[in-house]
Amino acid sequence: MFSCVLVRETPEGMANKAARAIQMKIMENNEKKIPTVLGLATGSTPEPLYRELVRLHKEEKLDFSRVITFNLDEYLGLEPTHTQSYSYYMHHHLFDHVNIKEENIHLLDGKLPLEQLDQHAKEYENLIQEAGGIDIQILGLGVNGHIGFNEPGSALDSRTRVIKLDEKTREANKRFFNSKDEVPTHAVTMGIGTILQYSKECYLLASGSSKAAIISAVHEVSSPTVDIPATALYAHKNVTVILDEKAASLLPSTVKSTKSPLLSRSLYAHKTSEEKELFSGCKLSPV
Ligand code: F6R
Repeated sequence: MFSCVLVRETPEGMANKAARAIQMKIMENNEKKIPTVLGLATGSTPEPLYRELVRLHKEEKLDFSRVITFNLDEYLGLEPTHTQSYSYYMHHHLFDHVNIKEENIHLLDGKLPLEQLDQHAKEYENLIQEAGGIDIQILGLGVNGHIGFNEPGSALDSRTRVIKLDEKTREANKRFFNSKDEVPTHAVTMGIGTILQYSKECYLLASGSSKAAIISAVHEVSSPTVDIPATALYAHKNVTVILDEKAASLLPSTVKSTKSPLLSRSLYAHKTSEEKELFSGCKLSPV
């Protein structure tokens, strides 16, 4: 069961909340002249988040020059220039529009020959470690409960590796391709253990009615299960779940809906008329 769920009316309101957290961390670290390490997801969910970060850079001069990024995953077999590769996505939605340094961008390479991917995955993890871990990890949620591309059955201590995509994932993602046949069958993904070990703070984002059932299923589980990978986050001490109203629509009405005094006092909270919090603490933990 989630113990801290923030619900925003719209995907934009949801994204703004996560963007404020990133903005605060970058500003705090820039002040100290130290890097900010971000773990980033792709897909439809974080698009409004990246739009807001670009706006913060352009209009409020948010400085990305000390930001280091690590992406969660990449399809196997797509050139970085392929419009559906996550490399293309990240440049298109974020990197090309902010002052991040090219050498600070880390993306998994899905075009490497299979026999080199194990080594590549190990090196990726070493780079995360050398960067001092991930300050803020952004996570989306698959309709089957995946985080990154850790499909159901992924071990809770799994590391960065090649994975066969679940048919539900390929079905869900065919909307980005001309047909399901074009959706790659495999990907390389940070592992669940990698995410749990290296992320200091996680934001799990889900929007839209297609995520309502899985959000409700995650919420009903009391401890991590490999059948629903996102439940692994119950083992992490600093997770904030941010939903839009559609994704939250099947959460039980017994979950208390109140306005968080903490959040309404927050300088960074984006306030909307019907903003509400499902709030009984600040951490996501098993009940
Ligand atoms: C992609 C990733 C995936 C997506 C998830 C939801 O980098 O990590 O876990 O976040 O498949 O995708 P959307 O947002 O397109 O519904």
